Amino acid sequence: MKPVKIAEGIYHVGVTDWNIRDFHGYSTHAGTSYNAFLIVDEKIALIDTVKKQFADQLIDNISQIVDPKKIDYVISNHTEMDHSGGLPRVMHKIGEGKPLYCSKIGAKNLALHFPQKWDYRPVENNEELSLGKRTLTFLETRMIHWPDSMFTYMKEEKILFSSDGFGQHYAGYETFDDQVGDEIMLHAKKYFANILMLYAPRILKLLENVAALGLEIETICPDHGIIWRKDPGKIINAYSKWSRQEIENKAVVIYDTMWNSTQAMAESIAAGIADEGVMVKPIHIRKSHRSDIITEVLDSKAIVIGSPTLNNQIFPTVADVLTYMKGLKPQNKIAGAFGSYGWSGESIKLLTKELASMKFDIIDPGVKIQYVPDEKGLDACFAYGKKIGKAVIESNG
Ligand code: FEO
Repeated sequence: MKPVKIAEGIYHVGVTDWNIRDFHGYSTHAGTSYNAFLIVDEKIALIDTVKKQFADQLIDNISQIVDPKKIDYVISNHTEMDHSGGLPRVMHKIGEGKPLYCSKIGAKNLALHFPQKWDYRPVENNEELSLGKRTLTFLETRMIHWPDSMFTYMKEEKILFSSDGFGQHYAGYETFDDQVGDEIMLHAKKYFANILMLYAPRILKLLENVAALGLEIETICPDHGIIWRKDPGKIINAYSKWSRQEIENKAVVIYDTMWNSTQAMAESIAAGIADEGVMVKPIHIRKSHRSDIITEVLDSKAIVIGSPTLNNQIFPTVADVLTYMKGLKPQNKIAGAFGSYGWSGESIKLLTKELASMKFDIIDPGVKIQYVPDEKGLDACFAYGKKIGKAVIESNG
């Protein structure tokens, strides 16, 4: 992409990654972007870089505005290599010895990624850096998304450079929220569910702190996806809702199946849940990506998991989803388990143990059927679904 002007002297100089489909295990079917921002004032600053293989595109974008050698300061809001991979190329190109501002943990983490002896300037929370007419304020935002993460705020233009926060994995020619439709919120939700759900309590605290500081925000520039300028409140409110893990009148039935028996059970349970007026989807794990499954989990009240018993264990793909889910720490859920088995039938017990370890309220006893469910078995699944549906309705008051 070409540089895009955000405000007088402030440019988006990042790059588009049209073809990425797997971002460290997250399915990025719409690609992504690595956003970086150039501020041309009495001093010139670059906020963040891009993935290593896009560094020359970033430098080319900068060169269309200023000679990169004129950059005075580089700011690294986050060490993860989709934003820091281009640093060696950039720091070399702008001329050795330029200061590199980052959080204190950022200085440590960058040094663990790169052997170069850059002039690190670790900053305090709320420390300011004057560029002349404009001022940058550094805000510590530990764990959003790594321990080193920080945001950079420009009070004169009321712009928040928010690193991973408020981002979306989305590639497009659009730069701003007013140029895309509401579909962007689905990308933002997926991003939150897969990258930030684990840190929801910290995000809530951050939002409270921002409100307490009275920080005026007219534009949010994340490091991925579109920039929020028309309605930054929309994404802030969505983050507030997702961080509270506010629940919809919704359930997901997540399963894998060997000979379609667990699938038939899943569909009967889902039909029972739907019969109570609760939105529900049966999701076959091998037909869906785990990052899409987690997006459905985020705002579902009931998480119902089905697995056949295979070699006395739960099915490996189900274990994969449970491990991923456990790491992201969804809260405030009710849960159920089901599955078909041949002779030993451990899956229900193992699934229930996993769900209980996530502090979900279990709707006992689950449904376990030997080999192929007959009509009576499917009726039992439907009834279990109704029980779950009722529990969802009750939980919503
Ligand atoms: Fe976009 Fe945590 O990196």
